[in-house]
Amino acid sequence: MDPKKQPEIDVIFDAETIAERVEILAQDIAKELPDDLLVIVVLKGSFVFAADLLRALDRAGMRPTVDFVTLSSYGMETQSSGAVNLARDISEDVRGRTVMIIDDILDTGRTMAFATDLMTARGAAAVHTCVLLDKHEKREVQIEADYAGFPVDDVFVVGYGIDMAHLFRSLPFIGMVRQD
Ligand code: IMP
Ligand code: MG
Repeated sequence: MDPKKQPEIDVIFDAETIAERVEILAQDIAKELPDDLLVIVVLKGSFVFAADLLRALDRAGMRPTVDFVTLSSYGMETQSSGAVNLARDISEDVRGRTVMIIDDILDTGRTMAFATDLMTARGAAAVHTCVLLDKHEKREVQIEADYAGFPVDDVFVVGYGIDMAHLFRSLPFIGMVRQD
């Protein structure tokens, strides 16, 4: 795709709708989880969501620490293998910590299951999960997010950090690329 030629993108969640939902999510999290939470951001797709959510958590009175992990699932053609690749690890010690993993989309569930299993195996005291979008129809692994922004149908979304072939992460809204 030519990056200079903007395809038409239909807005699903506009910036204001996302901002309002993020604020509520942060308030829910602040009510239920300890102030010194260790937030683990799953790169790359959740970096915009995480940046907004972390500041909302601060407004809600929390003082979390933050680390980053880069996970990727192998390409579409090998998706049935379900393999998740740990491309870059966190540097924090999770032993005894209450952790919350943030991802952009809970789809088959493999990425989040991999991340929660890893942190549990390393001795985290508790592992919570937060996603912006929940594609419930697509689930293959039995896992639900403790905190989810919006349910979405099985459509390919972009924007607000989420990419299609490395494009569209900088869009301030979440939308669907028009296929025509
Ligand atoms: P899962 O392991 O199948 O749950 O995959 C979750 C990951 O797949 C997300 O973190 C995204 O990186 C990617 N993904 C799933 N659906 C979409 C989409 O609609 N647009 C872009 N990336 C997606
Ligand atoms: Mg991802």
